[in-house]
Amino acid sequence: MNHFLDIHKTDAADLRAMIDQAGAMKKARLGRPRAAPDDTQPLKDRMVALIFEKPSTRTRVSFDVGVRQMGGQTMVLSGNDMQLGHGETIADTARVLSRYVDMIMIRTFDETVLTEMAEYADVPVINGLTDRTHPCQIMADVLTFEEHRGPIAGKKVVWTGDGNNVCSSFLHAAGQFGFDLTFTGPAQFDPKEEFVGFARRKGSTIVIERDPYKAVEGADLVVADTWVSMHDAQSAKERRHNLLRPYQVNAELMRHAKPDALFMHCLPAHREEEATSEVMDGPNSVVFDEAENRLHAQKAIMRWCLGV
Ligand code: CP
Ligand code: NVA
Repeated sequence: MNHFLDIHKTDAADLRAMIDQAGAMKKARLGRPRAAPDDTQPLKDRMVALIFEKPSTRTRVSFDVGVRQMGGQTMVLSGNDMQLGHGETIADTARVLSRYVDMIMIRTFDETVLTEMAEYADVPVINGLTDRTHPCQIMADVLTFEEHRGPIAGKKVVWTGDGNNVCSSFLHAAGQFGFDLTFTGPAQFDPKEEFVGFARRKGSTIVIERDPYKAVEGADLVVADTWVSMHDAQSAKERRHNLLRPYQVNAELMRHAKPDALFMHCLPAHREEEATSEVMDGPNSVVFDEAENRLHAQKAIMRWCLGV
């Protein structure tokens, strides 16, 4: 069995195989009703726990539907309603859940909750977002890019705004899939050195460029995310907005990228803040393909975790 904790902790060849399998599984069920079972039922008789300590729409629904399409069953648990939220240790929770379920997906705040869960669980644990990373999202994003533009290796991705958890996983993916990434945002929100360093050690060109117009020159993909993440203090909202506003992705900024540059946003979006509706709904936007591909990418991730 394998845990899917982070993109940099997963073998690059395995990541590649997951993307390819996700694409193939997606094609195989084109046009079928959403609840129609896949031809093969690799998760038959398997029970998957989906634990949320933060809100979610995409992660929750895509994991739930994905497990069902592959023949398994799910239970969606709110961290708050569990004893976990009332003092039971993560280790004990992991040991107990391992007696009932075959796999655990958890969305949480602190990274250590995820890693401790993985340490003490006898079943695979999947990272459904932490304050630090969001690997399932970036697997879906790689799949989405390649569906539209072919291999992502060697391409230029530009991350705008806050060097947050989603940006961190993009940097991990740059290293593992062999693309380059330019970060453009205020210095206060630079991505952490450990993520930049990983990508550079793997041979990716990682650039920090304060001028968003210079940054997007030659971009194959421009990415935005919320300026205030779920783990950020709401009290910092105004300050963050003031600092990040120059990095809004709008039609004028997109005109400085390659003419066929894609636009991505993991959603949920705050329209007219980090990106305008003109871009979000424009011809180069693939934001809803990304959302759909969460389903397909995660199905491949779950199969890899269980070795089925
Ligand atoms: N992109 C993403 O993870 O969305 P949710 O917060 O709705 O799960
Ligand atoms: N950076 C965002 C992503 C949401 C899917 C957050 O952590 O809130």
